Amino acid sequence: VPSIKVALLGAGNVGSQVARMLTEDAQVLSERIGAQIELIGIAVRDTSAKRHYSANPSLYTTDAEALIDAADVVIELTGGIEPARERILRALKAGKSVVSGNKALLAKHGVELAGAAAKSGAQLSYEAAVAGAIPILRPLRDSLAGDRVTRVLGIMNGTTNYILDQMHTTGAQFEDALAEAQRLGYAEADPTADVEGHDAASKAAIVASLAFHSDFTIDDVHCEGITSITADDVQAAEADGYVIKLLAVCERDGDGVNIRVNPTLVPVDHPLANVHGAFNAVFVQADNAGELMFYGPGAGGAPTASAVLGDFVSLSRRLVLGGPGVPESSYADLSATGMSDVVCRY
Ligand code: HSE
Repeated sequence: VPSIKVALLGAGNVGSQVARMLTEDAQVLSERIGAQIELIGIAVRDTSAKRHYSANPSLYTTDAEALIDAADVVIELTGGIEPARERILRALKAGKSVVSGNKALLAKHGVELAGAAAKSGAQLSYEAAVAGAIPILRPLRDSLAGDRVTRVLGIMNGTTNYILDQMHTTGAQFEDALAEAQRLGYAEADPTADVEGHDAASKAAIVASLAFHSDFTIDDVHCEGITSITADDVQAAEADGYVIKLLAVCERDGDGVNIRVNPTLVPVDHPLANVHGAFNAVFVQADNAGELMFYGPGAGGAPTASAVLGDFVSLSRRLVLGGPGVPESSYADLSATGMSDVVCRY
């Protein structure tokens, strides 16, 4: 039985849960993949920091590069642009497949990363980058590949949905709800990215790229956060029969696409109005499929780790089968063909 050596970069909320699953579920995952998996190390900044899950202490290292070089598959969950970008490129250029949950990086440098993967035949997967546990990227990329998606409406940030939901249901103050979202492990390390809408904007760029078979970056997304929403706004919306949600909207507009993130008044009887807590939902409209709704936990360690492990099992199976990697992103297809379906408009 072949073996697959796994390097994990990052041991935060999600990384810790991935370490737990790779350790506790190693046997069953190995059976599913058809190869013995081995977590060979976890790259962190501080080996003595307290973690949500304590893996074998000998696994922690600060030498990410050496760990990458010794691995077959790299799982990147550090967040931020650098050094994550350099490290992923190092792995991909060496033909090592990568799973990443790093939406900020993918929304900025997705084309470059997918190009490096396509060149070396490595795989790059990032289902965990959007909407936590909800399978949404593969359905957009694969299941709907024969259809024509016209619009995607999403609640794609758990922290802001939690905050707005608390403001609506308990009258909580913005700051208290944010502190609770941080305590529950939903927020980014710097919650500015959540409350200013940047996290949702990164996800919108990734979703639009796959839905419309084009290359969009976060710079193509018009973005407005929720920091100026007051208790009075919430009450006024309710009096008129609406709920305030931070929506990501990706829609065709003539021969272009409009991508934006902004607080939106959603009628109380719309399915998106009934997405509570840190849950996410993505509402998709396509010419032939009609309307689809994807719903589930959109943030948090274990739910997001579930999506990471799904990508890991899926790409490891392809490694075991020995076939060429199936490009995981629209970016790879496009860098090969130079095609672009649509232009961006807003
Ligand atoms: N901070 C993000 C959120 C985590 O609140 O949705 C998941 O990407």
